[in-house]
Amino acid sequence: MESIEVLAPMAGITDGNFCKKMIPYGFDMLTIGGYNVDDATIAAGHSIIQRGRPEFNIKKENILPTIQEQAKIIKGSWDGIVSVNLRSTSPETIIEISKLPEIDVVEINAHCRQPEITEIGCGQALLYDLDKLHDFTKNVVKGAKSKVSVKIRANIENVDDIGASKVIENAGADYLHVDAMKPGYNHADHDIIRFIKENTEIFLIGNNSIRDLKSAQLMFSAGADGISMARITLKENIPFNLGEI
Ligand SMILES: Cc1cc2nc3c(=O)[nH]c(=O)nc-3n(C[C@H](O)[C@H](O)[C@H](O)COP(=O)(O)O)c2cc1C
Repeated sequence: MESIEVLAPMAGITDGNFCKKMIPYGFDMLTIGGYNVDDATIAAGHSIIQRGRPEFNIKKENILPTIQEQAKIIKGSWDGIVSVNLRSTSPETIIEISKLPEIDVVEINAHCRQPEITEIGCGQALLYDLDKLHDFTKNVVKGAKSKVSVKIRANIENVDDIGASKVIENAGADYLHVDAMKPGYNHADHDIIRFIKENTEIFLIGNNSIRDLKSAQLMFSAGADGISMARITLKENIPFNLGEI
């Protein structure tokens, strides 16, 4: 299995042009979004913007053309993997987006903790209901033309990380993208990555606090098949060469 390096999504930031700037660093997968793509998540996004957090603000009728346009900006000068992180209360729009020829991966956002999103049963709220997580993922997998990733956040109180990981694997997803957040620490929880790897066979992308060669290598040593980075890419220069990992 080839290891991969991924640009993780940042709502309101990681659009086509941001991703295009990341191409020279040597990422294998670039993620646009997260986008709110159905009526309920679009309305939630408006409330989030009103309290000052960055969000992509796209009208429902413009979702497909906008995502296609952003993906084209990247694909125009690169032949790597383009992924799109999506928040939705139902699988339908995610499936529609997976049919865009420029999209290689649709990523179900089971990670967002903004209350406006979790209150409508979306984002990390999916992790509290493993039957729903299973059915949602399975429906997307069944209808999608692209590959399917599911992004989760680890170490949430009262969430069974291994249970959620197995459900995502059993539903047929191609990638499990884990934000191995360790509350109170400024580094990732490598034990949870190790534990998930021991209990599943799905392609595992480890995320959280990768900011130098050492933190990248630690994530791989814990068993991740791929790693992803978000905040470090906001710096003027990523302080290490992805090719050296
Ligand atoms: C401003 C900002 C916006 C984010 N938006 C999203 C999002 O839309 N979808 C998502 O799955 N994760 C989102 N994340 C989480 C990141 O993808 C990543 O999981 C998290 O920042 C930890 O990785 P890092 O330590 O490399 O930054 C966001 C993070 C930041 C800082």
